[in-house]
Amino acid sequence: MDVNCISDKIYYIGVNDRTTAKFEAMWPLPYGVSYNSYLVTGPDKVAIVDGVEVGHAARQIDEIKSRLGDRKPDYLIINHMEPDHSGGISALRAVWPDITIVGNGQTINMVRGFYGVEGSVLKVKDGDTLSLGEGVTLRFALTPMVHWPETMMTYLVEEETLFSGDAFGCFGALAGYVLDGGAQTEMYLAEMERYYASIVGKYGQFVQKALQKLQPLAISTICPTHGPVWRSHVARVVDLYDRLSRYEPLDNGVTIVYGSMYGNTAMMAERAAHELACAGVGPIEMFNASTADLSRLLAAAFRHKGLLIASPTYSEPIFPPVKTFVDGLVIRGLKNRDIVLVGGCSWSERASALMAELLGTDLPRTTFKHAGSCDEHDAVRKLAAELGTRINN
Ligand code: FEO
Repeated sequence: MDVNCISDKIYYIGVNDRTTAKFEAMWPLPYGVSYNSYLVTGPDKVAIVDGVEVGHAARQIDEIKSRLGDRKPDYLIINHMEPDHSGGISALRAVWPDITIVGNGQTINMVRGFYGVEGSVLKVKDGDTLSLGEGVTLRFALTPMVHWPETMMTYLVEEETLFSGDAFGCFGALAGYVLDGGAQTEMYLAEMERYYASIVGKYGQFVQKALQKLQPLAISTICPTHGPVWRSHVARVVDLYDRLSRYEPLDNGVTIVYGSMYGNTAMMAERAAHELACAGVGPIEMFNASTADLSRLLAAAFRHKGLLIASPTYSEPIFPPVKTFVDGLVIRGLKNRDIVLVGGCSWSERASALMAELLGTDLPRTTFKHAGSCDEHDAVRKLAAELGTRINN
C-alpha cells in the first residue's frame, strides 16, 4: 500500500522539513514541520492543491513528474499565500508555464506582489466550483484570517474531503505515515495547540466564522497544510479548533509564568504552585519566562483555566521576558481565564500595576518588596489558594 495515496483521486506530494530551527523565524520546531501539498486527479484535469516552501520545490517537481507520467498539472490552487505554501510557485511555473493559478482576488494580488508571477490565473469567489472531470468537483470557501486575509479552503465534493489550509494543521514533520491512523496522534495534537496559540490564536472570531461555514458540509477527511491528514480523528480536531477559537479552557489546570533575576520572584511562584497543588488543582504547568519558549507559554495559557503571572519590576517596568508573554496574551485577546498577578520590586513597585493595566485592572494581585516579608509571602499563598478555590468550584 502506498501511504501517500489518500484516495484514488488524491495523492500526497508534500515535504518534510527537519532543518529549519524556527518556523516564521520565531517558533521552535523540535519535531520539524511538513509543508503539505496534494495532487488531485480527475478524468480531464489535474490540480495541485497548496504548494511547498521554496527550498523544497525541486524535490516536489520530481515527485509530481514521476506521479503524473505523461500528464501535466493544469491548476495550482492556492488556499493560503504565506510563503511556506507558495514559495515554489515560480519553480512550478518554470516547469509548467501553462499551469493556471487558482485563488481569490486577494490571493492573485499577493502572487503578483510576492513573486511577480503573471500569466494564466483563475480568480474564484466564495462557493465557486471547478470541475476536473466527471466525479471530481472542487468547491471553494473563503475563510479570511485563518490565518491571512486571503485564506480559503477547497472541498472535494464527491470525496467529502476538505483542503483546509493552516486550519487543523500542526507542527511536527511526518514520519512515513501521512494519514493520522498510523501517526503519533497525541504529539501532533499537542503541537496543534502550540501552532494554534502561536500563529492563529489572534483570529478566534474568524476561525469561528469558518467553522460555521463548514458546518453544513459532510467531512470525512481533512487535508491541512501542516501535519497529518485527519481521517480517524476528524471530530476530535474540529472540536479542538472550536474550543480554542472560543477561547474556552481545555482543562481546569493552572499556568504559572514568572520572571526572576535573583530568585525572589521564583520563590514566590514556587510558593503559589505549592499552594495550588495542596488545593488539589491540576495540572500545573510552570515556566521561567527567561528560559522557556514563548510558544509553550502561550499554548499552556490557551489550555488551562487558571493563570498566575509573577514579575519583578524592571526598567520597562515589567521584566522584559514576562512583558513579551503579557503582550502575547493581549495581542491574542485571550479571555475566559482566571488570572492573578504577583509583582516584586526593590524600590519602585510598578510591575503588577502595569500588568493589571494590560490585562484587567480588577484582577486580583499582590506585591512584595526585596525578598518579601512574612506577610507578603502569606499574601502570595492566599492569592494562590483563592485562585485554587475558584478553579475547583
Ligand atoms: Fe502555514 Fe500561515 O502558513
